[in-house]
Amino acid sequence: MTENTTLNRRFFMKGAGATALLGSAISGLPATASAKGMGNVSMSMAYDLSEEFNRIGSGDSKWDGIRRRARPFDVPFPMGVADMDFRTLPHITEALMKRMGHQNWGYQPIPADFYENIIAWNADRYDQTVKPGSILNAHGVLDGCLSILKLHNTEGAPVIVQTPGYSGFFGVIRNAQFTSVENPLKLVDGRWEMDLDTMADQIDEHNCKVILFCNPQNPTGNCWTPDEMRAMGDLCIDKGVLVIADEIHCDFVNKHATYTPYATLGDKYAQSSYTLKSTSKSFNLAAQHCAYLFSDNQEMIDNLKKSGHQRGSLNALGMIACNAAYKYGRTYMDDMQSYIDGNCHFLENFCAENLPEIKYKAHEGTYLAFINASGVADKLGGPNGDQRVGDLLQRFFIEKAGVNLNPGENYGKNGVGYMRMNLATTHLKLHSALNAMKKAIDAI
Ligand SMILES: Cc1ncc(COP(=O)(O)O)c(C=O)c1O
Repeated sequence: MTENTTLNRRFFMKGAGATALLGSAISGLPATASAKGMGNVSMSMAYDLSEEFNRIGSGDSKWDGIRRRARPFDVPFPMGVADMDFRTLPHITEALMKRMGHQNWGYQPIPADFYENIIAWNADRYDQTVKPGSILNAHGVLDGCLSILKLHNTEGAPVIVQTPGYSGFFGVIRNAQFTSVENPLKLVDGRWEMDLDTMADQIDEHNCKVILFCNPQNPTGNCWTPDEMRAMGDLCIDKGVLVIADEIHCDFVNKHATYTPYATLGDKYAQSSYTLKSTSKSFNLAAQHCAYLFSDNQEMIDNLKKSGHQRGSLNALGMIACNAAYKYGRTYMDDMQSYIDGNCHFLENFCAENLPEIKYKAHEGTYLAFINASGVADKLGGPNGDQRVGDLLQRFFIEKAGVNLNPGENYGKNGVGYMRMNLATTHLKLHSALNAMKKAIDAI
């Protein structure tokens, strides 16, 4: 038996008991993942993603954080913070445990095959060539974004963010004394699309030199098409705007979609951009703070180092976890994609059949659904005073359904009425959360 198979079987068996227990503990719900709408999922069966893996008590943000803040209400379905409820790839834990056993925490270089594994992952899965000397380490994707912004922007200068857009961008921009320029996406037949006319005007009006671009996009879930990105890239190149392509969510792509790395569009796009990635979303390693960035433009990479972005080595456990992820994680990631795809379609069907107050169409990439819950806000009579619609909805779902969702306004002005729902959870929990939401909405 190979090392892979032994590990998979051991962890699978461990998970199976827990799943059965939870299934029987929640009455009226299926004990397995065969809930309606999840039947088309084809998976290796190497990993039991339906295992009910208990995260409570580790001090994390997603579970312990919201449960602390929501007291006296319990939150059995925390679907806010963008990390996953699944046990991570067993090889990662095995590698970390082996390293822990040494009880030596002296200086440690990057693992010998670290960059080789980054390069192989991107080449094999996305046909993306990452040049060995062009990769820089980072303590996180935002850490890398910040270094790039500081090199290419002057204090107070604007940064374009397409909105709704990842809330963390606004914090980094604000804290580093830049200003964000919201370039609103337009809803066209239910899909959020780029508004390049407005972007062109904004670039001119504010003299923008940088865009923080997200692909696949958080929170809309768009995997931008080559044509969409080429049009945006041409505009940016024409106007001398640097593209910072945050592709942290690239490993989550639903079956009806394709992820195209921005830098693979052609040399001129690769030369005028940086790309940032990480194993943190894909393998749930956010707290390990290990990410990387690269660019075909070697001069920009060299300048970034000269400007002070020097992360030769990272936290020992983060490096080991990231390395094991890319080395052993292919099947896990394939299974994960199928599983999340199942969740997206389940949510779509559930909303269509049971929740007329919520609009959602299966999105393309990321494990985040941006649901239109304005019908629920209307039913509740709307917000009071200067309360945000999203805050009204967040409180309602926590208090009446035990579900935490993130307010759409966190992602920009045009997120009003939307809530971001994290689908990186078991089919059973998703089903239970939706049942609880339906019950709460029906009782308004
Ligand atoms: C688009 C995007 N970029 C960056 C991050 C944060 O990455 P990191 O924790 O590596 O800084 C997130 C986390 O949710 C994200 O969604």
